[in-house]
Amino acid sequence: MSKSEQLNILYDTYKSVFNEREIVLGDGSVDSKLLLIGEAPGKDEVLKKKPFVGAAGKNLSEFLDILGIDRSDIYITNVIKYRLSKVNPETGRVSNKPSTNKDVRENRKYLLNEISIIQPEIIVSLGNVPLRAVLGDMQIKIGQVHGNLKDILIEEKKYNLFPLYHPASIIYNRKLKSIYYEDLEKLKNIL
Ligand code: URA
Repeated sequence: MSKSEQLNILYDTYKSVFNEREIVLGDGSVDSKLLLIGEAPGKDEVLKKKPFVGAAGKNLSEFLDILGIDRSDIYITNVIKYRLSKVNPETGRVSNKPSTNKDVRENRKYLLNEISIIQPEIIVSLGNVPLRAVLGDMQIKIGQVHGNLKDILIEEKKYNLFPLYHPASIIYNRKLKSIYYEDLEKLKNIL
C-alpha cells in the first residue's frame, strides 16, 4: 500500500475517533525526508484546512526560506489535529487554548503511526508539545535540547529528531529570535 493510502486510512480512523471537532490533517509531500510537527491548528488553519497558515505560518515561511526549502516539498503535521478552543462566556469570543498532557497522550499514538508511515530522515519538532509527544516524555523542555540532533526509536525504527522552538514563540519572545536563527543554521548544515 502506498504512503498516501496508509495515511488516508489513519486519517479516517482519526476523524471517526475525534469527530465533531475542527480537524486539520497533515499536509505536503509524503516522500519528504523532512517532517515538521507543530502543536495544534488554530482558527486560520481550520478555515483553510491546512496546518501553519496563520501568524505562526508566516514565521514558518520565513524559516523555510532560510533553509531554502519549498513548503510543497516537505510534510507538515500537528500532534493534535483539531483546534483546541474555549469560549469566553461574557463576550462569546472563541480563542485557542493550550493542550494538556491528556490531549497529548490521546493523540500520541496517531502521531507515531503517522511518522512510521512517512518514515522521514529528519523530524523537526516545533516547541514543547511535539517534542514531548515524540519522546513520550512530558517533563522535557525545549530550552534543554533545542538545536541538538538526537537519535530516537519509533516502532523499532531509528529517526533523527531536531527540536526547534515553536515559530510562534519568536512572535511572543523577541529574545529567542537569534537563538532560533542559530538553530536554523545548524539544521541547514545537517540537511
Ligand atoms: N498552526 C499549526 O498548524 N500548528 C501550530 O502549532 C501553530 C499554528
